[in-house]
Amino acid sequence: MSIRRLRVQELRNLHDVDIELGRVNVFFGANGSGKTSLLESVYVLGSGKSFRSTRLDPVINHEAPGCVVHASVLDSNGATISMGLARERSGEFQGRIQGRSVQNAAELAKTLPLQLINSDTFQLLEGGPKNRRQFLDWGVFHVEHSFHAAWVDVQRALRQRNALLRHARIAPDQIEAWDVRLAVRAEELDGFRRQYFDAFYPQFVSTLQELASIENIELSYQRGWDREKPLGEVLKDGLARDRERGFTGQGPHRADIRVRVRGQSAEEVLSRGQQKLVVCAMKVAQARVFSANRQRDCVFLVDDLPSELDRRHRSSLTELLSSLGCQVLVSCVDRSDLEGCWPSVSEEQRRMFHVEQGRFTNVSWS
Ligand SMILES: Nc1ncnc2c1ncn2[C@@H]1O[C@H](COP(=O)(O)OP(=O)(O)OP(=O)(O)O)[C@@H](O)[C@H]1O
Ligand SMILES: [Mg+2]
Repeated sequence: MSIRRLRVQELRNLHDVDIELGRVNVFFGANGSGKTSLLESVYVLGSGKSFRSTRLDPVINHEAPGCVVHASVLDSNGATISMGLARERSGEFQGRIQGRSVQNAAELAKTLPLQLINSDTFQLLEGGPKNRRQFLDWGVFHVEHSFHAAWVDVQRALRQRNALLRHARIAPDQIEAWDVRLAVRAEELDGFRRQYFDAFYPQFVSTLQELASIENIELSYQRGWDREKPLGEVLKDGLARDRERGFTGQGPHRADIRVRVRGQSAEEVLSRGQQKLVVCAMKVAQARVFSANRQRDCVFLVDDLPSELDRRHRSSLTELLSSLGCQVLVSCVDRSDLEGCWPSVSEEQRRMFHVEQGRFTNVSWS
């Protein structure tokens, strides 16, 4: 997958941007010029969401009634797909793929699979299990077709069960009816996640080796409930406790990927730069599993690639991204931070844009 042409209107400080992209695209410019906004526009198109705010309206230019992002995307078969997303201040987003209206963000994500690396990516190590669960589920969602339906069923069963737990007069057998449903779908979900993790982990190990030498790092998948017992039994045994708390204490909604170094939490041991390399390796490994399964590539958005990394590790990361063969859009403040970092990418395949007050100028590479 690669974006050939991108048009952005009234998204943050980007009033009207129309650019042709190559395989490797570097956006450089001063603070506040619009680099992150450009990456954000692609993210909005591929997910219906912003990566900077939970709502979409802060994304719309302060003085405009709505924003529009449009892209011509070349898919793996060489066909061009036209996709667009518009968002009015007052309404929901409206997505279109090949002129057809799309109903949900999942369709956008399927058409334009993205990997985002920015300062929030550190949350994969520093943040709570939710961050790692979402990361894991992104991978499973794109690789296993039946995952989405199982995931939706699990969420529904959990909501129902939690609502019943909070009612003092509900008989236990009413709750147990939901337990059966939850347990069946949760075991399925666990199977999908485990299978995905087993494919992901060796990719992660080899990717990290290509990037840096960080020893004794271990990732493990935790399913969210006792390893030895089926969830049905765990729910039954924990019912009294769950009723006291008013929510379900164990289950697939507690799944996690534990990241440890010599038995300690990675974020307590690794330096900031090492943390960045680990989270980049996680993202790249995920993209590799995706490509192997779907015979399609993700598009990488890397905001402020040079930050936290010394020159050698910047080069290792750009080399790794080049070797994936997928499209990358990266930003940096100073062009010299990334020049010379893409030796294996031919001139026709790379573009460099100078960003000034929301305007983009295609400049020569060196
Ligand atoms: N809704 C909005 N409408 C108009 N301008 C906005 C809006 N939201 C943010 N901005 C402004 O858009 C500009 C571009 O922000 P952006 O985050 O893209 O900059 P950047 O080039 O990534 O800078 P940095 O190097 O500091 O990360 C900033 O001046 C910001 O204040
Ligand atoms: Mg920025």
